This record gives sequence, structure tokens and C-alpha cells, in this order.
Amino acid sequence: MSTCNHPVAVALKAGKRYSWCRCGKSKTNPKCDGSHKGSGISPIRIVLEEDKTVYLCGCKQTGHAPYCDGSHQLFNGGGRDEYFEDNT
Ligand code: FES
Repeated sequence: MSTCNHPVAVALKAGKRYSWCRCGKSKTNPKCDGSHKGSGISPIRIVLEEDKTVYLCGCKQTGHAPYCDGSHQLFNGGGRDEYFEDNT
């Protein structure tokens, strides 16, 4: 398992396809590195229409995948709302 307890800010380019790791095994979290193969889990694809910095979920507990919804704060005793507004 290679997750982290915080969101990861990533500058994405318009029109380029990115893959967010959903399985938690990637060594390049939050990006998929292919470690999911054979698990029955596949990454979530991201293609934006404009260049944008987004906060991708690093803990894999988000309810707003692939974006952070603040769920990592539950591990730290906080609430969910810290990053959600930045990802809409
Ligand atoms: S490595 Fe986790 S979904 Fe690809």
C-alpha cells in the first residue's frame, strides 16, 4: 500500500490524459503506475478542458474521486471541508 494522509496538488495540462490510482498500490501515488494489474481495480482517467492545478486524493478515502474531499482529515481528527471547494 502506498497512500498518503493528505491531498497532492498536481498541475494538469488541458487535453492530456492522466490516471489517478484507485487501488492504493502505486509507488507514484496519486498517479497510477500499473501496479493495479490483476487486482480487478482500474484507475480513474482525468482529462481537463483547461490547464488547472487540482488536489488529488492521496488517502483513497474520498467520496469525490479523484479529487480530495477532505476525508484524510478524519484520520487527523478534523473535518472534510478543507480542500473540497478547490476541486470543483
Ligand atoms: S496503480 Fe493503482 S489504479 Fe493503477
